[in-house]
Amino acid sequence: MMDSKTPIITADQAGLARAAQILARGGLVAVPTETVYGLAARADSDQAVQRIYAAKGRPDHNPLIVHVADLAKARAYALVQPEAEALARQFWPGPLTLVLPRKSDARLARAVTAGLPTLALRAPAHPAMRALLALCEFPLAAPSANRSGFISPTCAAHVAASLDGRIDLILDGGPCAAGLESTIIAVREDGTREILRPGPLFADEPVSAPGNELEAPGQELRHYAPGKPLRLGAMTPEADEFMIGFGEVAGDCNLSPDGDLTEAAAQLYACLHLGALAQKPGIAVACVPDTGLGRAINDRLRRAAS
Ligand code: TXA
Ligand code: MG
Repeated sequence: MMDSKTPIITADQAGLARAAQILARGGLVAVPTETVYGLAARADSDQAVQRIYAAKGRPDHNPLIVHVADLAKARAYALVQPEAEALARQFWPGPLTLVLPRKSDARLARAVTAGLPTLALRAPAHPAMRALLALCEFPLAAPSANRSGFISPTCAAHVAASLDGRIDLILDGGPCAAGLESTIIAVREDGTREILRPGPLFADEPVSAPGNELEAPGQELRHYAPGKPLRLGAMTPEADEFMIGFGEVAGDCNLSPDGDLTEAAAQLYACLHLGALAQKPGIAVACVPDTGLGRAINDRLRRAAS
């Protein structure tokens, strides 16, 4: 693919117009969302979607989330039963992805759903992403904007560190507010719901045990990896460890000196990126309580450590 540097531009009106133009032609643009940065391509183009998989090195059995402006747009691609509609009305735009029965006539690239009968849909809340969707006449497929398996990006510099030269443009919309990927909820044809991935919403509800790989693709244990050993529940670092603190447990950086889980979620990936870049060959992380948002944080940390 390309080997020149990928431009990073501010997500202002001119930047958004340029991004929309690149996307219309089938290019790849990293975009800010309220959760993490996404690597967007038009979801109705086989070629454009193939480029996402190639740039990330993503296995092709792992389907993508399709981003739309609102519920009305979502209905073109999936069956939205009343249970799903209620969730969308309450939480869209926002950090909620709904896995719904895919419409057979949905005009989407085949690779988006990786052969599944269901489709993951999300209406993101970040103002720049909403403005971009308004400029595009097509939905945007967007996984997190990192090389497959590595730490998710919560600022433009994280994207560049992982994908520089492999994508066409990075739109800089500042740091992501939530800092953790969206909660994924599957709404089955009988209206029952299952949480497939813990996230910023429904933090206290139980997550479905991963079933077979077809039902819960992309929930591999190894994920979000910093590229060096990661030790969880640490009180003090070993000499060769970069320490990520929490609350009163100090470190080279701290997820939240006040012990606030919302702040810790927003800082998690930035701290893991610091640990990955540090000279020390290992990373230690303080204990994060396994309640509320802490459960989603610990889900990511366990995968990063495995
Ligand atoms: O917050 C987010 O969701 C971010 C931003 C960019 O929107 N996106 C994101 O995408 O986290 P990604 O590709 O890193 O994670 C999407 C997850 C994957 O684990 C994938 O397997 C799962 O969603 N997924 C996609 N379609 C699915 C489907 N039909 N059924 C079950 N899981 C699905
Ligand atoms: Mg990801």
